[in-house]
Amino acid sequence: MAESTYYVTTPIYYVNDKPHIGHAYTTILADVLASYHRLLGTPTFFLTGTDEHGQKVQQAADKNGITAQEQCDQTVVRFQELWRRLEITNDDFIRTTEERHKKIVQEVLQDLFDRDEIYRAEYEGWYCVGCERFFTEKDLAAGNCPECGKKVDAIQEANYFFRMGNYQEWLIEYIETHPEFIQPAFRANETLGFLKTKKLQDLCISRPKSRLKWGIELPFDSEFVTYVWFDALLNYLTAIGYKTDDEMFAKWWPVNHHLIGKDILTTHTVYWPTMLKAMGVEMPKTIFAHGWWLTGRTKMSKSLGNVVNPMEMCERYGVDAFRYFLIAEMTLGQDASFTEQAFVKRYNSDLANDLGNLASRVLAMVERYCDGKIPAPAAGADGTDEALKSATQSAVREMDGCIRTMKLDSGLARIMRAVREVNVYLQERAPWSAAKRGEMESVHTTLYNAMECLRICGALLYPVMPERMATLRHALGMEEVVPQLDKLSEFGVLTPGTPIIPLEGPLFPRVELKKEEEKPVTEKKEKLAPPEGVITYDEVMNVKLRTAKVIEAEKVEGADKLLKLQVEVGEEKRQLIAGIAQHYGAEEVIGKIIIIVANLKPAKIRGVESQGMLLCASVGDQLKLITVDGELPSSGAAVK
Ligand code: MSP
Repeated sequence: MAESTYYVTTPIYYVNDKPHIGHAYTTILADVLASYHRLLGTPTFFLTGTDEHGQKVQQAADKNGITAQEQCDQTVVRFQELWRRLEITNDDFIRTTEERHKKIVQEVLQDLFDRDEIYRAEYEGWYCVGCERFFTEKDLAAGNCPECGKKVDAIQEANYFFRMGNYQEWLIEYIETHPEFIQPAFRANETLGFLKTKKLQDLCISRPKSRLKWGIELPFDSEFVTYVWFDALLNYLTAIGYKTDDEMFAKWWPVNHHLIGKDILTTHTVYWPTMLKAMGVEMPKTIFAHGWWLTGRTKMSKSLGNVVNPMEMCERYGVDAFRYFLIAEMTLGQDASFTEQAFVKRYNSDLANDLGNLASRVLAMVERYCDGKIPAPAAGADGTDEALKSATQSAVREMDGCIRTMKLDSGLARIMRAVREVNVYLQERAPWSAAKRGEMESVHTTLYNAMECLRICGALLYPVMPERMATLRHALGMEEVVPQLDKLSEFGVLTPGTPIIPLEGPLFPRVELKKEEEKPVTEKKEKLAPPEGVITYDEVMNVKLRTAKVIEAEKVEGADKLLKLQVEVGEEKRQLIAGIAQHYGAEEVIGKIIIIVANLKPAKIRGVESQGMLLCASVGDQLKLITVDGELPSSGAAVK
């Protein structure tokens, strides 16, 4: 059943670091869903934004030597620029440091405090700095944080608590009676499993300013700021007029889809519903948790140097192809693997070959055989024409079903099947041979039908690849480059006689995997093992060498041989501990471009973290840094 309005959100992203593929993915997914609904004529609101308070942001600011507000202001533009580049059509962008948000968070807190939903108590327990969460002794996993496995700190302090525990039974019942509330269903079971086996604790919603100043001050106690998650979750309401614009709020709430990654399931399916319940606000319709993007089979992590940079992918292969790959490759709910090899393979087969070639061929034949104008089909259609029409129309219906059931990868696969069916139809009808025989009526009918199918498939793909599909529609002679998806069941919309506009080049030019990204060809079994002491090409390629610029250097206290260096690797900052202090003074190395092993597991040297290793040449007691001959435009270059 069609929705009367559609409201979709992404998580709001922490501004402690620049955006990566995980952020890009959820935002593109939300954009595709928003766009489908808009093009179906449903009033749509798409919200994204940034989560700007809390310890993570404060720590990043400290590390960068700037204020927390500066950290936010500098990083938020990275997100906004990326969204522009990725053609994201969000209706609003909320920053939690904005007055419109802070004011309402304080109103909510005051109201809950006045109604005794929030109370003050002494807290004694364990705290994980990374996850910014409190745990009881029983929660811990082998003495460590149950979420991230890292060390936890014993803590004792006064704090404010939200009576979350009171809602345990209610929440279990709500989830059990609303199967659409948490999706996919196995995630609902995950939350239920947790709720049914553990006593739900009250939620600590404050941080004493003595420990963290960067947050929204509690309206009833100026010694405390609000816990970042309590503040952040409320963005979904503050952006749509909660307590400020009743009409707007009533129009969009309850939200249709909160899109989240699987790691933030508990905060969204336990904290958030209980907060809403206490506030007397209706529940979200669906909280949908997607899986993670992995690099091959490995978790992406900065220290491994395997995090995919979305900007770089767009530079290399184009925005639309990147959007297409992400949506086509991830089955919603499951983890997915990102490799550039897989990307190039899919790009060439789906986009360059199947879709791109079809468009080029059809348009070229219309130029050649129809004087560059949309041909008129003959009256009546034979079995092949009918089969083609009904195959394309069934793709329209199935895609619609896939959107509603969040099976976007299957939807795209279905459209690509329809595209391939047009290719087969062309092969069968062979208009080039018909033209030679002078059977122009058959040529015109074939090309008209192929153009219609291209129009329909292009429209279905428009939310995923808006720029390329607008170009295709323009080439097909359509004035309206933005399609109306509710009008797609009609066949025969293109007006015969309208001039087509030849494409300037292929819609998706074929791409080759760049050499530097190419994985070495796997060694054949029958090959002899390399002689001892010799390493394989794969082993060499596994070591990521990068150029780095030394920004700061100082001696490590109590260690004669060690210098602590702050280096820039492209846009990333790293700290290295290097045993070069007996050969170089701190001042001498500043400004040098050195070479580092960038994917070495970080290690503590004399209690100080080192995030990589620099390369030196040494003979006897002589040691020289390996540097680069001449300047490159920036650091972070691959060393080959
Ligand atoms: N600020 C919180 C969200 C608050 S929402 C009220 C937060 N921010 S985050 O920037 O750390 O992460 C945002 C999203 O990125 C999460 O949904 C997370 O799952 C997602 N991803 C981070 N890495 C990811 C992948 N490698 N793959 C897919 N998504 C992943 O959490």
